[in-house]
Amino acid sequence: MAEPTIQSIRKITTENPYRVCFVCLGNICRSPTAEGVMQHEVLQQSLGSYFEIDSAGTAAYHVGEPANSKSRKVAEEYGVKLLSTARKFEASDLDYYDLVLAMDRQNYHNIKHLAGGEHHHEKIYMLRDFDPQPDDDEVPDPYYGGINGFYHVFDVVQRSCRNLLDQLKQHVEK
Ligand code: 4NP
Repeated sequence: MAEPTIQSIRKITTENPYRVCFVCLGNICRSPTAEGVMQHEVLQQSLGSYFEIDSAGTAAYHVGEPANSKSRKVAEEYGVKLLSTARKFEASDLDYYDLVLAMDRQNYHNIKHLAGGEHHHEKIYMLRDFDPQPDDDEVPDPYYGGINGFYHVFDVVQRSCRNLLDQLKQHVEK
């Protein structure tokens, strides 16, 4: 099972919540799904005040838009609401967030390019580093395909986020 260790996870408290940002290309399909799923998992486990969850895109094409209608439909079937408004990932996000999770290799390299030093680099991972069933290392882009691709994205994102949260919550101090 994929069990990468995040470099020195700090103590997570309500005073200093752990900040996670999911990043894809357009911030309308994959990363809003990951944001919604992770927020849902955190709330289900009564950990809402210990985590701050966000998403962004490396491209600005869709800035200001809600999540894609197919992404929202699939998520709602699983009881997950996608509430994000698309925004572009900025270099300053690497200061603010504790963990930045790229959906594919292109996103990963674009984020790495913005990193200003080791303290930034060590925050950046691929979401599928945390997939317990890693048959691929990327969350595939569903944008130009049919609804099945959106179901696949949801499945991959859900099991990866659950595994990630299992690791993070061991550092919560109540
Ligand atoms: P996302 O999907 O990166 O998962 O939000 C895409 C959304 C839009 C485009 C590509 C991928 N686009 O080319 O406009």
